[in-house]
Amino acid sequence: MGKNKLAKFAKMEEYPHVFQYPFATLQEKGFEMKGRWNELFFKNNNPIVLELGCGKGEYTVGLGKLFSGKNFIGVDIKGARMWTGAKQSLEEGLNNVAFLRTHIELITHFFAQGEVSEIWITFPDPQMSKTSKRMTSTRFMQLYRNILPQDGIIHLKTDSNFMFVYTTEMVKSNSLPVLFETDDLYNSDLADDILKIQTFYEQQWLARGLNIKYIKFLCPERDTWIEPEIEIEKDSYRSFGRSNVLNQSTKNG
Ligand SMILES: C[S@@+](CC[C@H](N)C(=O)[O-])C[C@H]1O[C@@H](n2cnc3c(N)ncnc32)[C@H](O)[C@@H]1O
Repeated sequence: MGKNKLAKFAKMEEYPHVFQYPFATLQEKGFEMKGRWNELFFKNNNPIVLELGCGKGEYTVGLGKLFSGKNFIGVDIKGARMWTGAKQSLEEGLNNVAFLRTHIELITHFFAQGEVSEIWITFPDPQMSKTSKRMTSTRFMQLYRNILPQDGIIHLKTDSNFMFVYTTEMVKSNSLPVLFETDDLYNSDLADDILKIQTFYEQQWLARGLNIKYIKFLCPERDTWIEPEIEIEKDSYRSFGRSNVLNQSTKNG
């Protein structure tokens, strides 16, 4: 591992607002702040908002700056990426921002039922061949249900047509109420201060000429969750590799 990465990991160990738990510790002792993030860490009763697969944490930090009356937690498994947002939020004195390094699949070990009011999913890998790994699959919805209240909100921002179509179909199949939806955010009237926050991946996809898609929906309890059964055209640029998107769009005029 490079020196730079090691230095970032060492810093992350010291940061008071970064939580990282080896699975063995989690299994043995559990997470003492589950259900008590506000009491033990944020010291207020404000709503808790998660950014799942936060990478460098642009939404976690950006929303933290915009909304001092809410608490934001960025979740990712990659510590070196998360370090960027962790460092920035510490330097800017954002007391309403924290980071949790874990697999999203373990999220119910860290939050109690109803403890989280909103979830942002920002530019996830669409996992075109593996539905169960897709972050808006019904498998993940059932996990999110365990930490959200009945009126809990999910936001998805993505470059991927595949991910967007899949998610809108999943939402339809399960009759989840949609609050907003657009397949071209920056040519819609939705792009406000919140939606204009751009993540690292978003900037890369925008530079390659892709439209940004966004959907905001509620995630109430369902007796059974139904996986949509439709064929969705795969994103061609992902199989070509990212650098080819520019070539493709140049060719297409
Ligand atoms: C494509 S990147 C997007 C990062 C960031 N949201 C952005 O827009 O720049 C996807 C991120 O999700 C994280 N991720 C993917 N699957 C995960 C999982 N099961 N648990 C935790 N993190 C995950 C990856 O480590 C990566 O940082």
